[in-house]
Amino acid sequence: MSDSLFDKLKNLSLYPMHMPGHKRNSDLLGNFLPYGIDITEITGFDDLHRASGVIDDIQRRLAAFYGAKKSFLLVNGSTCGIMAAVVALCSFGDKIIAARNCHRSVYKAIELYNLSPDWVTPPLDTQTGIFTSVSAEGVEKAIEHTPDAKAVIITTPTYEGVVSDTQKIAKVCEKCGIPLICDTAHGAHFPLFYGKSAVGDISVTSLHKTLPCLTQVACLNIFSDKVNTERIAETLQMFETSSPSYVLMASGDRCMRLLEKEGKELAQRHTDRLEHFYKAAESLKHLHIKNSENCDKSRIVICCENTDISGKELFDRLRREHGIECEMASMRYAVALTSICDSDEGLLRLENALAAIDKDLHKAQCTPLPEIIAPKVYKTAYQAQKCEKLLVSLDESIGKVCGEYVWAYPPGVPVIAPGEVITADIVQNILEMRRAKLNVISRDKEKLLILK
Ligand SMILES: Cc1ncc(COP(=O)(O)O)c(C=O)c1O
Repeated sequence: MSDSLFDKLKNLSLYPMHMPGHKRNSDLLGNFLPYGIDITEITGFDDLHRASGVIDDIQRRLAAFYGAKKSFLLVNGSTCGIMAAVVALCSFGDKIIAARNCHRSVYKAIELYNLSPDWVTPPLDTQTGIFTSVSAEGVEKAIEHTPDAKAVIITTPTYEGVVSDTQKIAKVCEKCGIPLICDTAHGAHFPLFYGKSAVGDISVTSLHKTLPCLTQVACLNIFSDKVNTERIAETLQMFETSSPSYVLMASGDRCMRLLEKEGKELAQRHTDRLEHFYKAAESLKHLHIKNSENCDKSRIVICCENTDISGKELFDRLRREHGIECEMASMRYAVALTSICDSDEGLLRLENALAAIDKDLHKAQCTPLPEIIAPKVYKTAYQAQKCEKLLVSLDESIGKVCGEYVWAYPPGVPVIAPGEVITADIVQNILEMRRAKLNVISRDKEKLLILK
């Protein structure tokens, strides 16, 4: 008989360079038994959807930590917060300005509410294949083009830790009276490392990704009076369970209390660890660690574009030969997620593993990747999902209207969405992702779903 999921989990031994941010560090966080504290809304334990007691206290702590006017604790991840924010700000059939490299939850909100997106596509770093920042100029142009958009939504930081200038983008949005939603799912730890800063009108943050919190715990923060808090509370009820887990909420509470007490010291210790790691990584000959001003240093992006190894092979070698499980692999890089719960040994293990792998590598020619261009839209995703569809070969699909989402997971950014016109470049991109053995999600491995 195969191992139970519980046994498999108990026997995990690889070092976690991935989410959740607590890194299973029971030395720091202790061990507490979920069954003993798993309850429903009994007397004295408040109600997440109408919080006024112990749960509201957690929300106040969150608001203080993020510098928000109001925070909602979430137990269905950032996904439910993003859906709720978009639906609160838009009406069915409205227009929205969105960064093309948004997470699938944004695409799903757009589909659900039959929204017409005006995409802002940040330039691609054509060497590594990593999206760079969204610029204020890009957002301004989109607003000129679509002045009746009901919201702007961008991702900052991205899966690869790339940060956009939110202050500047927020100013542009404010001038035009359009609310800005920042998907900061990957930036829950930012106030600890980079100080508090308002992030548009709404930010949605996955505490579980980079802080000591159980998986699914997130929060939605409101920074301005432009946002109707009551409406957000209502839309959250559409996307969030009516039976929120007290185990998850308690982990949010513990996380906030730990950060209030020891956050600064833990962040300083981790900054020191990272400094040591980045310094040591300078001696790598072939691999290199992405390290620029507008990047979150705790997200270690190991680039291999000039080598004879792919991001996926690098990911596999770290796992197989060095017992390190990374967060994700792409064609030309792998991502190791670090947090205040890492150990010195963990970072040292990664440092030594990269030095060992680097020795075996050879220089290889790197051909620039094509820029990403948002495809032409024939129908909204909502309309396209209502149409009859058929599967055709990838070759045959070129020039046709797509009937499905295709994305590599992670990072979960679609290459194409329903209603968009398939181009030869998009087919090429899908083929290359499959060749690189990335986890490409689509209906069929060889074919694409198109509208009849
Ligand atoms: C940019 C981005 N936004 C939102 C989400 C959704 O977050 P959650 O898993 O907390 O629902 C993810 C998940 O990976 C993400 O990468």
